[in-house]
Amino acid sequence: MTIIAPSILAADFAKLGEEARAVEAAGADWLHVDVMDGHFVPNITLGPDIVKALRSHVSIPFDVHLMIAPVDPFLEAFREAGADIISVHPESGPHLNRTLKRIRELGAKAGVVFNPSTPPEVIEWMMDEVDQVLVMSINPGFGGQSFMRSQLAKITRLRAMIDATGRDIPLEVDGGVNPETARLCVEAGATALVAGTAVFKGGPSAYADNIRALRGPSPGGA
Ligand code: DX5
Ligand code: ZN
Repeated sequence: MTIIAPSILAADFAKLGEEARAVEAAGADWLHVDVMDGHFVPNITLGPDIVKALRSHVSIPFDVHLMIAPVDPFLEAFREAGADIISVHPESGPHLNRTLKRIRELGAKAGVVFNPSTPPEVIEWMMDEVDQVLVMSINPGFGGQSFMRSQLAKITRLRAMIDATGRDIPLEVDGGVNPETARLCVEAGATALVAGTAVFKGGPSAYADNIRALRGPSPGGA
């Protein structure tokens, strides 16, 4: 079944603990945490202290998406704060391979994030060091943007690269994911979906239905 990772970027920031608990109760598999520095992307969100404060509120894995540069000096702080998966953009440091190794040394899963312009070949020579692949279907920085269909072919290409490894590497998509675009992503080979707007719209009473809608019809038709 497709992994659903609600992005707390779209939650009520005055009630983050409550919001995290609500999406976990509504069936979320992971909590996606968007970290922005106002430098690598044109927006500022949150840092390791908030990740740490949130950690005790839920038990699902924290899928931490770092949109900061330089990224290396902050890996340890996010791991100590409770990040289970740490994903980085190749453009956020000089040595992607070294960064991935460091994330693993810290005991987290190492993810690589692809901006719309980043080619899949960036990881071609380091598939052994990658635990997760995250394809951005928007330019990073803000929630609520429209899904870029141009990225579907990249998802297909990365699916083939992952399959060739024989390893079970999650292929996640982030940006403009709604029930309609979710289906396109899964058809292209995605196994995990990040969604901010599509999960948090309508408030807590709608979260379970919103998450179900993203998973699509169950195989049994129920
Ligand atoms: C944007 C973030 C996304 C964002 C997605 O840079 O990486 O995770 O929250 O928001 P929606 O689902 O609203 O496009
Ligand atoms: Zn994200």
